[in-house]
Amino acid sequence: MTTPDYGTSRRTFLYQSGLLMAGAATATAAPRPRSGNEQLRVAAVGVNGMGWSDLSNVGSHPSVRFTAFCDIDNSRFDRAAAAFSGVRQWQDYRRMFDDAADQIDAVIVSTPDHMHASIAMQALAMGKHVYCQKPLTHTVWEARQMRLLAEQKGVTTQMGNQIHSHQAYRTGVRLIQGGAIGKVTQVHSWVGVQGRQYCNRTDRPPAGAVPPGVDWNLWLGAAPERPFAADVYHPFKWRDWQDFGSGALGDFGCHILDPVFTALGIRNPLTVTAEHSGTNDEVWPGPETVTWEFAGTELTSDRIQVIWRDGGLQPPQELAKMPADATLPKSGSLFIGEKGNMVLPHVGMPMLFPAEKYADYEIPEIAGSSHWHDWVDAALAGKQTTDGFSYAGPLTETVQLGNVAARVPGTVLKWDAEHMTTGNTRADAMLTKHYRRGFEVPAAGG
Ligand SMILES: NC(=O)c1ccc[n+]([C@@H]2O[C@H](COP(=O)([O-])OP(=O)(O)OC[C@H]3O[C@@H](n4cnc5c(N)ncnc54)[C@H](O)[C@@H]3O)[C@@H](O)[C@H]2O)c1
Repeated sequence: MTTPDYGTSRRTFLYQSGLLMAGAATATAAPRPRSGNEQLRVAAVGVNGMGWSDLSNVGSHPSVRFTAFCDIDNSRFDRAAAAFSGVRQWQDYRRMFDDAADQIDAVIVSTPDHMHASIAMQALAMGKHVYCQKPLTHTVWEARQMRLLAEQKGVTTQMGNQIHSHQAYRTGVRLIQGGAIGKVTQVHSWVGVQGRQYCNRTDRPPAGAVPPGVDWNLWLGAAPERPFAADVYHPFKWRDWQDFGSGALGDFGCHILDPVFTALGIRNPLTVTAEHSGTNDEVWPGPETVTWEFAGTELTSDRIQVIWRDGGLQPPQELAKMPADATLPKSGSLFIGEKGNMVLPHVGMPMLFPAEKYADYEIPEIAGSSHWHDWVDAALAGKQTTDGFSYAGPLTETVQLGNVAARVPGTVLKWDAEHMTTGNTRADAMLTKHYRRGFEVPAAGG
């Protein structure tokens, strides 16, 4: 597929020039922090909601010093400013990079999904290490560009699906890779929320007054223009809307499918299909089922299906071979193996079934770690994390392909990962999106 046709503003031109120059330097090693005393100077973009969790966890690392805070809403700086005093504040990430790029080694991106790529790609182009919330991007095309540019720049990256580093998911991965249930033949994953549950509406609300301190133009960023309305977009409720969020699959897929991807080593689905009871062009569907088929790996059968359900749908309980009085967790994954089954709750320790067969099975003790500190340590050491964009990009491509399938329900999409086509013209158009001028995402380049 081709790059979207963008207008060229002065800023975009400078950014793209920077990218071209950056591309020429791809052979260099990961940049070391430039503060000279082994500190990582970090900028946080989106400082409340999950942004607060991200910056407080990153900021508890003794080698981190914040040099920039950015949020489109002036009323949301208080907590960050109280915890980390004296950090300069911006509303516009582009101004922040213009003014302070030389004081920033690394960037946390914790904004709504529709702005991850606009911000993170600019940070990557400038050679900054990046921690970016899940889903890594809003579209399949963006996920590919994020991976490519991160690899070209050699910086240290991490997606913000922090349970990747939790003891429970690490233990589940170890059990599968250690052969506890034999070759895996099918995986079911599910989450107990649905795609449009926060606003409970399917049409756009009437315009409302923008609250003082909120820059609505900056909040919209790359998304098509629409008027502000209270209690449906900013904060948090943007998730329901296709222009901003990624539905239940996008919200939880990069969490719950992460141990499936890590354990099995699957990548690039061959096909994807979605079914649900209907939606429109505004919001994500209610309860849905998405099925991907992957080429097998040494830990799976020749082909392997991964089936996602949300909105209260779950796999048939009997598939798990659990005791009659047990129930599946509200959210999690069921790995069906040739020798047994593993249920991995989100977030909880794995369970092996049938219980009698595994009564004496010793579950190994695997320690968890701080996902945020792991990123800081890796950046300071010039190393990569286990959840960098080389891994998180393809995981996010798969998740967002599911969202493309949800907009052509009942259609089997055949994914050609190399050429980035599904064989379906309507679906191919949804692999990317149009960007408002000034917030474009250029291709990563060669
Ligand atoms: N890893 C997790 O467990 C987890 C949990 C919740 C949310 N998230 C992810 O974190 C991200 C943020 O979600 P949230 O629930 O905190 O959203 P939110 O709307 O509650 O908070 C977003 C924050 O970013 C600010 N913001 C919005 N656009 C901005 C921009 N262009 N520039 C600077 N600041 C901007 C907002 O003012 C707000 O302070 C999403 O990608 C979401 O998927 C991850």
